[in-house]
Amino acid sequence: MRQCRINPSILSADFTNLERELHRIHTADAVHVDVMDNHFVPNLTIGLPVVQSLAKVSNLPLDVHLMISDVDRWGPGYAQAGAASVTFHAEASAAPVKLARDLRAAGAKASMALRPATALEPYLDMLPELDMLLLMTVEPGFGGQAFLDLVLPKIRRARAAIEGTGLPIALQVDGGITAETIIRAAEAGADVFVAGSSVFGTADPAAAVETLRHVAQA
Ligand code: DX5
Ligand code: ZN
Repeated sequence: MRQCRINPSILSADFTNLERELHRIHTADAVHVDVMDNHFVPNLTIGLPVVQSLAKVSNLPLDVHLMISDVDRWGPGYAQAGAASVTFHAEASAAPVKLARDLRAAGAKASMALRPATALEPYLDMLPELDMLLLMTVEPGFGGQAFLDLVLPKIRRARAAIEGTGLPIALQVDGGITAETIIRAAEAGADVFVAGSSVFGTADPAAAVETLRHVAQA
């Protein structure tokens, strides 16, 4: 079984005390930060100033997920802010190859996300430009939604394509990940798992992270 990483989403954390919330997930591999602009998705969260502040206090790498329009313009600023990885949506980028290169040039890992109904195949040739591919397993915008099993075949095809490149490209899933659904996502080939409500919705988020990792690697 491949090495699995668990990145809790602070979308389900207490926004009035994010620094304390980071300590509650000290067992995580990275912290997933959901940036929403109420345009690409029908919800509004945080932006660059908060990510800059998080980067200063976080011991965990920042896995920034941009659910914003005009991402070609705004994306590199998150890399400059200190994000370890920056994920943009293919649907929101006019020039995804250029953006991926801009993110790497700014010092971050480049990652691209696809909504559940966005086809993988048009993007296969640009896999070598990416350090990570994110396949959304819910429609982006809100935490607490149910995992979409219809994405599983796309996860399998993405895993096969990644193996075909011979490159260490991570395959992330985000949305509806629980100790039950993570088994199917891992079996299909995902190796980085974002979990919001199933981590922060428990009394012991650090233990929930360890449980998810254990189940995914079983
Ligand atoms: C949804 C976000 C997710 C969200 C996942 O658009 O991108 O990262 O926080 O939340 P859960 O794990 O509750 O589905
Ligand atoms: Zn996310």
